[in-house]
Amino acid sequence: MMIPDKAPKENVFHSSDGLKKEAHISSFEKYKELYVKSIENPDEFWGDIAKDFFWKTKHTGQFLSYNFDVTKGEIFVKCMEGASTNICYNLLDHNIHEKKLGEKVAFFWEGNDPGDELTVTYRELLQKVCQFANVLKSQGVKKGDRVSIYMPMVVELVVAMLACIRIGAVHSIVFAGFSAESLCERILDSQCTLLITADGFYRGDKLINLKLLADEALQKCRDKGFPVEKCIMLKHLSKEPEEILGSQSPPAKRSCPDLQVPWNPDVDLCWHTLISGASDECEPEWCGSEDPLFILYTSGSTGKPKGVLHTVSGYMLYTATTFKLVFDHQPDDVYWCTADIGWITGHSYITYGPLANGATSVLFEGLPTYPDVSRMWEIVDKYHVTKFYTAPTAIRMLMKHGNEPVHKYKRESLKILGTVGEPINPEAWLWYYNVVGEQRCPIVDTFWQTETGGHVLTPLPAATPMKPGSATFPFFGVVPAILNESGEELEGPNEGYLVFKQPWPGVMRTVYRNHQRFETTYFKKFPGYYVTGDGCRRDKDGYYWITGRIDDMLNVSGHLLSTAEVESALVEHEAVSEAAVVSRPHPVKGESLYCFVTLIDGVSYNRELEGELKKQVREKIGAIATPDHIQNAPGLPKTRSGKIMRRVLRKIACGDKDLGDISTLADSSVVDQLFQNRCCAGV
Ligand code: WT7
Repeated sequence: MMIPDKAPKENVFHSSDGLKKEAHISSFEKYKELYVKSIENPDEFWGDIAKDFFWKTKHTGQFLSYNFDVTKGEIFVKCMEGASTNICYNLLDHNIHEKKLGEKVAFFWEGNDPGDELTVTYRELLQKVCQFANVLKSQGVKKGDRVSIYMPMVVELVVAMLACIRIGAVHSIVFAGFSAESLCERILDSQCTLLITADGFYRGDKLINLKLLADEALQKCRDKGFPVEKCIMLKHLSKEPEEILGSQSPPAKRSCPDLQVPWNPDVDLCWHTLISGASDECEPEWCGSEDPLFILYTSGSTGKPKGVLHTVSGYMLYTATTFKLVFDHQPDDVYWCTADIGWITGHSYITYGPLANGATSVLFEGLPTYPDVSRMWEIVDKYHVTKFYTAPTAIRMLMKHGNEPVHKYKRESLKILGTVGEPINPEAWLWYYNVVGEQRCPIVDTFWQTETGGHVLTPLPAATPMKPGSATFPFFGVVPAILNESGEELEGPNEGYLVFKQPWPGVMRTVYRNHQRFETTYFKKFPGYYVTGDGCRRDKDGYYWITGRIDDMLNVSGHLLSTAEVESALVEHEAVSEAAVVSRPHPVKGESLYCFVTLIDGVSYNRELEGELKKQVREKIGAIATPDHIQNAPGLPKTRSGKIMRRVLRKIACGDKDLGDISTLADSSVVDQLFQNRCCAGV
């Protein structure tokens, strides 16, 4: 069995007795017992959970059916076949009517600027969603149609996504930090017929003219022969008071003279005009369990983003259950996840998981450093946040500013802290634990992926003794294994490839319109297993420790980028003939991009070109991919067969002369030259 019978007693952190008393899963023994049940009898385990939801029709046959072995035919996962439901109905109507949560706050929206705030109850949210669902229908959106959403962190983003779900349309949310080019690529890939966006927003002091970017993306789509006929724009910064959601709040206080809102009457529609007069009742579209729910793009090692597709019933049950148990959700909680809804963390743990549980959440538009570095703790005190979920990169960044900004606020309401996105270094873990949580709050280090839909390795706060830096044990229904290069399962303490042996309800079903890519990416290397792409170590107590990516992906501030995607952005510049990108450890971001570029003959490298190259990457992908370092590389280390030796480049990026075996290198003088010209010598 993969989970030890008894939890270790030494060198671990335990949660408080107080927390154990009220917790859903109150001891390691209870966790273990339920885990065994979830694996041995999934129908009963998940069947009990499913009873809490509304089903228009019940499922027939097995709870989960699947094939994870490419040698035996097509990979598939099916959960609750035959059942039909609507997630929006479960999140809103069911909570309002069956659980009497109509007047409960769904979201406390906190704007970028302190003082911009809004409260939305479950009933109000349902009304807004129905109105907008009717708008979408009146614009011709039907079940199965794809809708792109490119919006800041506003309540209307949740409204837009749930309105899609209500009518059975498939949302594809593109993080508002992505470039016009990235948006265009995603619209084309998912063949979206309608785009929902906003005029603009502030990120700290910086104004983002979002509509301008959206227009640029739509122009690119047109140029590529795919005209998107409709674009609905929310006035977020430029709105009139009567246009504000619920109208209890003043518009954003800050004036924004630089806001640019181009308007194309053939395509553009105003959100506010459309919803005025729209009915606030809308019968949900009943969807089959395996109908598509949403598409979310994640970087792929070929450089082209993959449209990860999730489906209805399994995703709903899995996000609801992980949210409830991992954050030990209680009715009077105020929960806050700082992620953007544009990433999977926001999908699963701002919208779907919390609303399925009738939770009250903070929805924050701003930055942890704006107007100053105590903003997070100010918000925690303001709303009495009990459960707080953020990324290691944010923790490291705040840690750099010392304890004083944290101590300015009380944080007495906090009960559980969480992290996600990348391995957390023990130093940051301990700071989070000691300073932020004052040794009172367990930390749930949740390992998962866009593809997994929800947490797959994670502590349960009252049950699992914690080790700083370990995501600990599998969630219910998840069966991890560690494989060596030949695909053999390793037992006991060991290190290798992290894989999963069977599906859980929330696992992705396919890469949108490219099932073959789904099979090759996740199932081909080790037939019979889902391959995560992460390395992993298991210690003597059976704890899992993620050691990082083992493919050509890098994790910048908790978000995956592929080296190939950055390379292709660089070589599109006319001065560049070849590019190789590697990751270099970074004290705050986790990893940063170090780029080597070979220029075409006759072009010389200078600051101006460097600026252009950074801009090029930003414009092609988005600000998150902006390279930290670009080095001129007249030659790249290659094998005799012409393959770039990235292992060597990684060493050069770090200034580490211990190169290991370089006997396959065609020309070793290239390496000396690159060491001499390092762009961050001494760093
Ligand atoms: C990759 C997935 C899942 C939401 C955020 C990122 C890394 C994620 C952890 C963790 C160590 C982690 C992995 C994974 N990762 N959480 N707790 N400990 N590594 O979603 O963009 O799909 O990235 O993030 O490398 O494969 P994503």
